[in-house]
Amino acid sequence: MDKQSLRNIAQRLMDGDKGLLAMDESIATCNKRFAEAGIPQTEEYRRKYREMIVTTPDLGECISGAILFDETTKQAADDGTPFIDLLVKGGIIPGIKLDEGAKSQPAFPGEKVTEGLDGLRERLKVYAVQGLKFAKWRAVITIAEDTPTDGSIYANAHALARYAALCQEAGLVPIVEPEVLMDGSHTIERCFEVTERVLHIVFEVLIQQRIYLEGMILKPNMVVSGLLAPVQADAEEVADATVQCLLRCVPAAVPGVAFLSGGQAAQDASAHLNAMHIKYKDKLPWALTFSFARAVQQPAMEYWAGKEENVAVAQQLLYKRASINNAARRGEYTPAIEA
Ligand code: 13P
Repeated sequence: MDKQSLRNIAQRLMDGDKGLLAMDESIATCNKRFAEAGIPQTEEYRRKYREMIVTTPDLGECISGAILFDETTKQAADDGTPFIDLLVKGGIIPGIKLDEGAKSQPAFPGEKVTEGLDGLRERLKVYAVQGLKFAKWRAVITIAEDTPTDGSIYANAHALARYAALCQEAGLVPIVEPEVLMDGSHTIERCFEVTERVLHIVFEVLIQQRIYLEGMILKPNMVVSGLLAPVQADAEEVADATVQCLLRCVPAAVPGVAFLSGGQAAQDASAHLNAMHIKYKDKLPWALTFSFARAVQQPAMEYWAGKEENVAVAQQLLYKRASINNAARRGEYTPAIEA
């Protein structure tokens, strides 16, 4: 394992006020979002959409790394330049989603376990040659009356740790993403309790599997109220709960934490990240940034709507959302910069 190289990649991903762009929607998820936005669900439209993103002028000022889906790693812009080359030229480190999705976990009704470990060492060799420097694996944890169970949390933690070990062997920085879903009417206190349990188990198993903590990044959910909860915690409550939970669970050796947005409104995700920085900026042992998909892409995707003539404005919207999150990372976000 090249520890120095892993540390360098992780540091570059957390650089300055930048964050990561998750653009690694699987074919099914991308098609679902396209359907909602009235965009044809074909490989060519997925290519055009990803071309719009990776050719956004100056995106590298705001984004340190982009997480790709396998299909995108093989695609190129209209002029034939591979997307991976365009990203690197723009100063954005290319990464890859490695998991093959969360599937129903046998004997654990209502819970899922993420698949994709078989053949992973060989897939990683190919991705390393293609120039991909980091990777992502997402585990999905659902809050309900009787879930999550420790049986499911441990199964997911074990898969995350096995994946992370294979990444580090291959020289890619693993992003470890245990996502506690926002779905449901649970309180922020319940989200805290579940997220704390999940992160404790995830780090217990990462350490057991000898993951080099200095060469990984954690991608957690923020601690928030359930989407359907009648009382919604405000930004300061989210910041307090999230930071307290992370301080209890995430070793200081981990260089960075990069949040998923998880279905929060784009403005909320920015306001929450901002509140954490305003109050805790100098008290955190790790860098704290964003690795959003929906909360950066959504306005751009909706405006683009699959139309060539909308590309330039869609790119401005994408750049704007990314730069607003840079401001949040500096603790300088205000609702006024949305205008
Ligand atoms: P969202 O920001 O849309 O939750 O996506 C982040 C991600 O990468 C999910 O795996």
